[in-house]
Amino acid sequence: MTVKEKLLGILDKSEGKAVSGQDLADSLGVSRTAVWKAMKKLAEQGYEIEAVRNRGYRLIKAGDIMTSDSIRSFLAEELKSAKIIVLKTVDSTNTYAKKAAADGAESGTIIVAEHQTAGRGRRGNSFHSPDKTGLYMSVILRHSQYGDNTDLLTICAGCSVCAAIEKLTDKKPLIKWVNDVYLDGKKICGILSEATADIESGSLDSIVVGIGINLTNEEFPEEIRNKAGALGVGISRSCAAAEVVNQLYLCLRRSREDILKDYKEHSLVLNKDVHFVENGINKVGKAIDIDDKGQLIVITDEGEKVLNSGEISVKL
Ligand code: BTN
Repeated sequence: MTVKEKLLGILDKSEGKAVSGQDLADSLGVSRTAVWKAMKKLAEQGYEIEAVRNRGYRLIKAGDIMTSDSIRSFLAEELKSAKIIVLKTVDSTNTYAKKAAADGAESGTIIVAEHQTAGRGRRGNSFHSPDKTGLYMSVILRHSQYGDNTDLLTICAGCSVCAAIEKLTDKKPLIKWVNDVYLDGKKICGILSEATADIESGSLDSIVVGIGINLTNEEFPEEIRNKAGALGVGISRSCAAAEVVNQLYLCLRRSREDILKDYKEHSLVLNKDVHFVENGINKVGKAIDIDDKGQLIVITDEGEKVLNSGEISVKL
């Protein structure tokens, strides 16, 4: 990590309080001139840093600025060397990531955007992605990272979003099967995992995990207004992006049993009546379990059903 990244991390954690140049220099083991130079670079990148007379430096607004440096400063030590691409605007970070993966981007590459013009959701839905109010991120993962947990990757992504929110706020999000994250009865996060294949061998080449979290949105389009919500607390998007990635890697290293236990503990649907469509017919039943493949077990009048994909609805 560079002096600049370390400084940013310290200032951001100081939550707007001034930190003296000498304290910064001491904790980083560098000279005060090096601190001053790094501050200058941060200011050039758009960080608003105030030099408070006799008290030191204060970061005025961290939450609104996303840069690769700021994201990196919050990544776990072992992930600090990840490639991070920050885009002002893009059609979809998943589309961008899939192209990058096909062009050989390394595993662990993180792509975030301030804004998506054509954010994509599951089943051909769009994902509302207005400028700066949300986190729109895709992570490229190759086999070395997800190992035998390919089928649980999306589940891990849901768990990691919950873990990150729980770590950074006092909110308690829940997961609506398969992987929509809900808070207070509203969807605040959607996840779209997409595989890319190696054309020559026909085998799985990489998986792009796309995560969209509504952070501070107050307005939603008419068609999703009843169902969509936002986290509603002003956390730094850089910090949120990094923490979700940190938690995703932690989750991927856990055993299947542990991952599923965590997932079930966050379930919004277990022991509730759920509606689903089977062969074009509306059905209703009680969700009683999630099996070791992440499938939802539902008891209906016709007996037990095992749902492995598709939309369910649940009365909240
Ligand atoms: C869903 O709710 O159906 C999934 C939504 C996934 C949205 C995220 S935002 C970042 C990434 N890029 C996209 O185009 N989609 C995912």
